[in-house]
Amino acid sequence: MRHPILPILTLVASCHFLAGSTATTLAQTTKAAGETQKAPAKRPDVIFVPTPQKVVDKMLEMAEVKKGDIVYDLGCGDGRIVVTAAKKYGVKAIGFDVDLERIKESLANVKSSKVEHLVTIKQEDIFTLDLSEASVVTLYLLPELNVKLMPQLRKLKPGSRIVSHDFDMRGAKPLQVHSMSASDDESNEGGHTIYKWVVPWEKDDGAKN
Ligand SMILES: C[S@@+](CC[C@H](N)C(=O)[O-])C[C@H]1O[C@@H](n2cnc3c(N)ncnc32)[C@H](O)[C@@H]1O
Repeated sequence: MRHPILPILTLVASCHFLAGSTATTLAQTTKAAGETQKAPAKRPDVIFVPTPQKVVDKMLEMAEVKKGDIVYDLGCGDGRIVVTAAKKYGVKAIGFDVDLERIKESLANVKSSKVEHLVTIKQEDIFTLDLSEASVVTLYLLPELNVKLMPQLRKLKPGSRIVSHDFDMRGAKPLQVHSMSASDDESNEGGHTIYKWVVPWEKDDGAKN
């Protein structure tokens, strides 16, 4: 079923893409402990829509997060996934985002949750990242952005888990697909689907396009 917010996400992503060529860079910002802030290389490829907390909890449960894992959230928004991973599982986590407002929100979230010793927030373009340190990767982007990330995701260590809120990854067969509702959902009234892959994933030969 077509995702209810997909047209909005796609429209805004297109506008950002068109605006990208004339975009001015944000001023260099100050660095503080546990944070990396710098002028963004680009505008976001997709707008910020938070994953409801119930879905965050289920994503991390499906990823079977355990001691020693390193969780990366690619496009971390307000940092809720990395903060939850640290609070609930005591693991290290890194959140990446290009949007300075999101970086500020994430840093505030990390601080108020007292997980500065476990969580790092970085202002970086996810398509330039070396993901080899991660053992769990969480995504809430767009289907075509998941596909664009595949060359990087392929380099994850065998056994690493990838979980994606609502969007699949064409050409990669998910190991598990879970549908749920989030009654306390403040951002998205529809149902939610979580896709899970384990590296190396099985090729999806049944893909129709
Ligand atoms: C739909 S939100 C998901 C936020 C969070 N992961 C969650 O599930 O609550 C997507 C996020 O990706 C960020 N983003 C978009 N393109 C990006 C890029 N190329 N590099 C880093 N972050 C990006 C946006 O700024 C936004 O915060």
